[in-house]
Amino acid sequence: MRITILGSAAGGGFPQWNCNCRNCAGLRAGTLRAKARTQSSIFIQPDAGGDGLLLNASPDVLQQIKATPALQPGRALRDSAIAAVLLIDGQIDHATGLFMLRERTGPLPLWCTDAVAQDLSEGNPILRVLTHYCGVDRHRIRPDGSTFEIPGLAPLQFRAIALSSKAAPYSPHRDAPEPGDNIGLSVTDPRSGRTLFYAPGLGEIDAAVFDAMHQADAVMVDGTFWTDDEMQRLGLSRKTARDIGHLAQSGPGGMIEWLGQLPATTRRLLIHINNTNPILDEDSPERAALTQAGITVCEDGMTLEL
Ligand code: MLT
Ligand code: MN
Ligand code: ZN
Repeated sequence: MRITILGSAAGGGFPQWNCNCRNCAGLRAGTLRAKARTQSSIFIQPDAGGDGLLLNASPDVLQQIKATPALQPGRALRDSAIAAVLLIDGQIDHATGLFMLRERTGPLPLWCTDAVAQDLSEGNPILRVLTHYCGVDRHRIRPDGSTFEIPGLAPLQFRAIALSSKAAPYSPHRDAPEPGDNIGLSVTDPRSGRTLFYAPGLGEIDAAVFDAMHQADAVMVDGTFWTDDEMQRLGLSRKTARDIGHLAQSGPGGMIEWLGQLPATTRRLLIHINNTNPILDEDSPERAALTQAGITVCEDGMTLEL
């Protein structure tokens, strides 16, 4: 399978439109060695050149399609290589792009959990609004580790597990987490026998999550924040990374420590990187620490073959 990183930034993108933090201001001024990034999404194709699955529909999806010719193969008057969309949560940065796909010919095949379908029908009723356009053909994901297939994407096999993270602020159950608010997804190509584990929003690594990470050949996980109090220290929020469902990279029990426990051959990648995170600065000591630990920081346009 081929995996294309369409957007590697967290909500807001990099630089964020209203932000003048060191990273955002430095990128605009050209004084920081860093790359601009769009909001969180990847594309997985069983075979390069064929149809694939859009994982998360970013508000930047139109820009991402323009930047990625594989998404627009031009085989018919109206055409797209997006065979289906799968949402790992119902947050703005992962769901708003559904509106941009409304011109689709025929209902959009959409894979998500019941918790996410409910949030996107009630708190933020995107799915109801879309019935006035292309409509959605919704398929249920059960976040119980069972294997499922997605029509048009054979022979890829999918498994979802419930993660401890957070539902969106507009979720009717924002403060009463339900299994399925956020999922981690394992994608296996039986031809190569190789597996990707994808979890851009990951608040806590329990035994089931670590097991899924351990079984994968590549893990592409939450790279939102370097420190738990990153937003507080900058005076940008009162909330910690943990409060909004993200495990920070540094320190005891942080993502770097967890990734260090995986087999030496596992590819380790961080995605969904917030614009405040010092790892975006390619000359920072934090970035050097990741390189030292064999951890890659995803960039838009990057591809991976598994
Ligand atoms: C998150 O991942 O915590 C959210 O997407 C943040 C946001 O976009 O508001
Ligand atoms: Mn997000
Ligand atoms: Zn910023």
